[in-house]
Amino acid sequence: MKTVQFDALIIGAGGAGMNAALQLADAQLQVAVVSKVFPTRSHTVAAQGGVNAALGNVMADKWHWHMFDTVKGSDYLGDQDAIEHMCREAIPTVYELEHNGVPFSRLDNGKIYQRPFGGQSQEFGGKQAARTCAAADRTGHAILHSLYQQNIRAKTHFFDEYFAVDLIRDEEGFILGVLALEIATGEPILIESKATLIATGGGGQVYRTTSNAHINTGDGMAMALRAGIPLQDMEFFQFHPTGIAGKGMLITEGVRGEGGYLINSEGERFMERYASMAKDLASRDVVSRAIVTEINEGRGCGPNKDHVLLKVDHLGEEVVAKRLPSIRESSRIFAGIDPVEEPIPVFPTAHYMMGGIPTDRFARVVMPLGEEQDEQNAVIPGLYAAGECACASVHGANRLGGNSLLDILVFGRLAGKDIIDYVKNNPEHRPLNQASVDRALYRLNRWELPPEGEALSVNELRCELQKLMEDHAGVFRSEEVMQKGVLKLQALRKKLAQVRLQHRGKVFNTARIEALELENLFDIGMAIAVAAANRKESRGAHARPDYPKRDDQNWMKHSLYFQQGDRLSYKAVRSTPLSVESFPPKERIY
Ligand code: FUM
Repeated sequence: MKTVQFDALIIGAGGAGMNAALQLADAQLQVAVVSKVFPTRSHTVAAQGGVNAALGNVMADKWHWHMFDTVKGSDYLGDQDAIEHMCREAIPTVYELEHNGVPFSRLDNGKIYQRPFGGQSQEFGGKQAARTCAAADRTGHAILHSLYQQNIRAKTHFFDEYFAVDLIRDEEGFILGVLALEIATGEPILIESKATLIATGGGGQVYRTTSNAHINTGDGMAMALRAGIPLQDMEFFQFHPTGIAGKGMLITEGVRGEGGYLINSEGERFMERYASMAKDLASRDVVSRAIVTEINEGRGCGPNKDHVLLKVDHLGEEVVAKRLPSIRESSRIFAGIDPVEEPIPVFPTAHYMMGGIPTDRFARVVMPLGEEQDEQNAVIPGLYAAGECACASVHGANRLGGNSLLDILVFGRLAGKDIIDYVKNNPEHRPLNQASVDRALYRLNRWELPPEGEALSVNELRCELQKLMEDHAGVFRSEEVMQKGVLKLQALRKKLAQVRLQHRGKVFNTARIEALELENLFDIGMAIAVAAANRKESRGAHARPDYPKRDDQNWMKHSLYFQQGDRLSYKAVRSTPLSVESFPPKERIY
């Protein structure tokens, strides 16, 4: 088998992976980026509204206010040291992007344009802030392309259209690299590395209706699970309030930031009843629940009363053309309407995983040792995770809009910087572990072994999984619904053993990849369902009609899901920030 060696390996070419790679390549390290799609097709490209940083270009702002909003938005489950770190780092990170050529929209005075987004405030919960730095409604596209160009300049080595199958590790738990598949040829390749960063993004494809691209299948999180690493806080899955109804494509929160608002079938601006101050710019969990409640109570729009409407027409064609050109295009293509003339039919869409691979605030993967023992977290040497697949615990139970691009950029950059030191101190490759390579090769090839019993297709099972997750782990989830979901999912997962590639003469490698992705979706779906079924409170995106209140006494703790035995344990929330006073838990009112 072809084998190559690099100082550092990055799995995933979105904003986190690219920003890490850039630090490494600029420091003259040999860095490889493995991406299952051409790098500029990574899902960061789809990010619309912007990236948060308290630059104060439009009105006064401070990183400390940003920190408060993020802690409150997280429903007090975020770790306050990591949140402080992110909000402070936001400012130099955005300026670095600007210097790297990101074409941000501009104010008349030439400064970066910033728009209001949900959950943002001045003075710790006062008036609405405007903190989201935007490039029209194509911010992710602008950032990803600039970072790719910088990486090309810095001579990062890209493995374009290579699928990472599994991490290779030794008996002591060190990660030695990855087994990957070259999609075009079907040839496996072993990439050995001194340090590895998982930056594979989220797994929204586990749900039927999602804003996520087809590629978002939780690959890195599932690899971590199979390597014995738990996933943290997986019960917290964000439903973005404004997906195109029935389709799921994102209509940016930036629409509401620019003055758009939601109405029900009675033409009422219903958010006034749910969030009297922030209204349509309350945090996402609040707005999504409000929409579902309006529909459940019979005030939905359309012949089936199954969505609400997002009004944009009053903003005028000029504002839409300047600030929101892409949502006009998406609305025309996917909803068949022009938002300059008619409101957009919207419904919450599966959007973002707050949970993921547990890391510290330098993006180092930590392996929690023992129940409730946060201090005993052990760093896994040389293994890093950043971006949506990671859980540095900056979003807690609910992420604020605009903090996702921020998370990937800040922690990608910090991972790169930490890896530079790690490789300096660990300059040799460790010996390869053949048993681990063999396990990964088996995973790659097992889809073509003779089936035991009836052979099932990938598509059949994938659709069943997505529907199950939608029905049993949606915006509102009760004990009975979730417990049933776990049992059904355990039964469905067993059928994975029967999945075989469908032979019609020739099998394309894309079919093999879809099978590998399906297994990854099952792995993360199980983590979501098990963690959700066990959390007996409502907090952030985890809303239980049977336990409608947050319960700080019993549940102010992070969940950890281990794949072996579908086991859960818990660890403490770090509520002591780095340099300021802690924000104590309070009722969240917007
Ligand atoms: O609504 C949006 O533009 C999405 C932004 C985000 O998820 O941060």
